[in-house]
Amino acid sequence: MNILFCDGGSCRKAGSEPVIREARAYLRNNGLWDKTHTIKTRCNGRCEDAPTCIVQKGNYWYKKLTANTIIPVLKSHLIHNKPIEDHLIYQDGWESLLSDDERPEITPKPFQYKIDDQLERCMLTKGFSSDQYLYPLFLFLKTVNENISLVLANGERYFFSELQDIEYTSTYTVTLHFKDNRVIHLIIGSVSKEEPLEAIQKKITSTEYFILEETNLRGIRFKDKLTRLCGMVYIPETATKTWEYCLNIQLKGATVNEKEYFNA
Ligand code: FES
Repeated sequence: MNILFCDGGSCRKAGSEPVIREARAYLRNNGLWDKTHTIKTRCNGRCEDAPTCIVQKGNYWYKKLTANTIIPVLKSHLIHNKPIEDHLIYQDGWESLLSDDERPEITPKPFQYKIDDQLERCMLTKGFSSDQYLYPLFLFLKTVNENISLVLANGERYFFSELQDIEYTSTYTVTLHFKDNRVIHLIIGSVSKEEPLEAIQKKITSTEYFILEETNLRGIRFKDKLTRLCGMVYIPETATKTWEYCLNIQLKGATVNEKEYFNA
């Protein structure tokens, strides 16, 4: 049997370590150590249910574990070969998750008409700025050949058709390698408080999608924590594949408020 204990930040904060210690001590003292594997994992994506673990064989996801509840859970699997359903978030065959604290899904608002200081008359909506969105965005832009460009705050322009490599191996900085050794570093991952202030402030925290009224040009504007412009992605009207991707994947199917759009 494998028990995958989440050791991500939320679970640790919610007390995962005493749960893991208790579980391991129980397995050791009952001669079960060699028949089981306890593994610490990174975030399981169920932080609202922290601390969590997954029991295999099978696929049993447990929520809100404590040092007291983990032992009956282990016994139930090891002795009776069944889960304790009261503590489960999910098992195979269930149609939905059984969370006590399910977070409502966040979806972007429809595009709204705005008169923006920089963009002037436009339709605009806010997208997501975590690396779980921005890294896939850059990976996607590397694959399409639709004349998409990125213009940095200093005016330098980079075409994604010349993007040769994307490196996201450091903790929070993604590096875009363009032709002719031109390189851009953008901070897209979460930056902990212990990191240099400059890195904290330069993290992209605002990602806005827009359609300009005058030219119908579409784009994405990135700003940092201090609302300074980091860069703008320009998407020509002809770049239908890219814009479709932005609407459907990055903006989860966001729509343009047509009434406002056409009356504008
Ligand atoms: S940190 Fe454990 S589920 Fe996210």
